[in-house]
Amino acid sequence: MSDTPSLHTDESRYSTAKLLRRLLALAWQFRVDCLLSLALSIILLLLGLVGLQLLGTAIDVIRHALDPTAVPPAYPFGWKPPANWSPLHVVTALSLAIVAQAVLRSVLTYSYNMTTVRLTQGKIVPELRGKLYSKIQRLSFRFFEVHGSSSIFNRLTGDVQNTRLFVDGVILQGLNMLITLAAYFLYMWKIQASLTLACLSVTIPLALVTHYYSNRLRPGYQKNRDLYDGLVEVFSQSVLGIQTVKGFAAESDRIKKFETGNRAVASQQQKIFWDLSVFTPITHFLSQLSLVILFAYGGWLYVQGRIPLGGGLVVFAGLLQQFTGQVANLSTIANSVQQSLTASKRVFEVLDTPIEVENNSNPVKPSRLKGNLVFDGVTFGYVPQTPVLKNLSFTAQSGQVIGIFGMTGAGKTSLLGLIPRFYDPQQGRILIDGMDLRDLDLDEYRRQIGIVYQESFLFSNTVAANIAFGSPYATQDQIEQAARAASAHDFIMALPKGYNTVLGESGADLSGGQRQRLALARALLLQPPILILDDPTASVDAKTEHEIVSALRHAMEGRTAFVVANRLSLLRRADRILVLEEGRLVQEGTHDQLAHIHGPYQDAAVLQLMDLAREERSAA
Ligand code: CTP
Ligand code: MG
Repeated sequence: MSDTPSLHTDESRYSTAKLLRRLLALAWQFRVDCLLSLALSIILLLLGLVGLQLLGTAIDVIRHALDPTAVPPAYPFGWKPPANWSPLHVVTALSLAIVAQAVLRSVLTYSYNMTTVRLTQGKIVPELRGKLYSKIQRLSFRFFEVHGSSSIFNRLTGDVQNTRLFVDGVILQGLNMLITLAAYFLYMWKIQASLTLACLSVTIPLALVTHYYSNRLRPGYQKNRDLYDGLVEVFSQSVLGIQTVKGFAAESDRIKKFETGNRAVASQQQKIFWDLSVFTPITHFLSQLSLVILFAYGGWLYVQGRIPLGGGLVVFAGLLQQFTGQVANLSTIANSVQQSLTASKRVFEVLDTPIEVENNSNPVKPSRLKGNLVFDGVTFGYVPQTPVLKNLSFTAQSGQVIGIFGMTGAGKTSLLGLIPRFYDPQQGRILIDGMDLRDLDLDEYRRQIGIVYQESFLFSNTVAANIAFGSPYATQDQIEQAARAASAHDFIMALPKGYNTVLGESGADLSGGQRQRLALARALLLQPPILILDDPTASVDAKTEHEIVSALRHAMEGRTAFVVANRLSLLRRADRILVLEEGRLVQEGTHDQLAHIHGPYQDAAVLQLMDLAREERSAA
């Protein structure tokens, strides 16, 4: 599917051995809870053995009562019934002990489950999810350009859950299984050694089958997660882009696309289940086989007179059944291993992504900046081999308005993105008040920059909260002042609940110009010495443009402002205009200067002036 985001990962970093080591480290981090959980399961195991032993003794007591020549019962745990007890008394006492054991086991099973859930859902999952979220928040833009948002969502939800499966579904279950098998084995060995070996011979093919299927399942899980990412991508894009979808009557197209993805996920899921549905019965069949061996070989031993047919054999059969049951559990554990390996790789990939733009070891916390900005031989490309800004040098003095003009794709937005240090240049440096951006504390620095994008993202929250997004401690007065400065106060007051009006998702209930003015108010509330405006009037009509421009006139006063614009209305107010062509600075000057020099600016200016004149003529 074309929507499937490509994943750029270093596979050697995620070899099975390395993933296992990291997952073990994760479990080690929660070792106290793991041990508690394990201790409870061992107590449960011992109680189960006690129950079986009591049952065996009870059978021997009954046999001995019926047939005094039979082997006398051996009482467990050094216990001896009082001499005056009849066999009925003894059996009743044993039965009561079995019931007590069962009740105790139920209580302990409950607390075992509670402990495990508290560990996995209460500790591991929130911890992983929190780590992942804060990492994603701090990652540089490039990460989001490479990974689709759906893939990121899926990692934060499903993959975190499956990663934790390694702790409860693999380590705890696995250790539990090993201890149980060892205990059962010793117990059975004590009852009858050769019978034990005969019955357990099936565990070898069982282990082989498990190994085979386990390797088969893994790529399936990986593919499944990738396909699922693609499916969620189609879905979320359709929701976010619903206007475009409907506008182009593309619904049935999108539905078809979703169906294709839906079917791909379904058939991949089915493949996994097909494998599982062969695998699980095979393991069950093999475990049943060991019971058949017990009856055949055990019967033969009995006929040979080498074992008595007493409670011991019943205990043995019980142990064997539980033993093979535990071995069959291997399939579940193997399945969990594969699921958690696949998921953890996806979680670790995010946690391991280097944060490209980061504070250096000893960042300078700037006090209020003046806003003298210097680009010194800056070359930058999203992919280092293809620069989109080439050897750019210019200076902006504190308080100046710098206009940036150029054709689409010339690199205007890219230039603006370097100012708040969203990216670092590959060559050259950028200085603010004489300091290299790379030496500054990122948060402190960015807080002194107000940004209005080509299109502004508004949160589904109140108008006031949207304006105060970057300044959570702003008072209502300050918010209103910023709104007035952005010429937004009047239209906000006309909204149903004024500043407390909750905006629809993505601010769908505001016009383009209103959204831009809210975004401007948000930027101004920061009182930033540096203001960045990326074509704020690109998508509005002439009247709204006029409103925004007059709002901006006040807004830019006393700040160093960088304004990308193609309309003369904004550019005319700039102290200096930089003209970009394919990432190069080709012209520089004021509107009046550039309008009189032959070049791309003059061409655009002439076209716009002609348009204006034509409009005026037709209006007259
Ligand atoms: N580009 C890229 N990766 C991005 C953003 C942009 O490779 N994440 C490329 C674009 O394909 C373009 C160049 O960088 O070739 C410059 O893009 P940009 O700075 O966004 O151009 P603008 O001048 O801002 O174009 P517009 O007027 O259309 O906004
Ligand atoms: Mg742009």
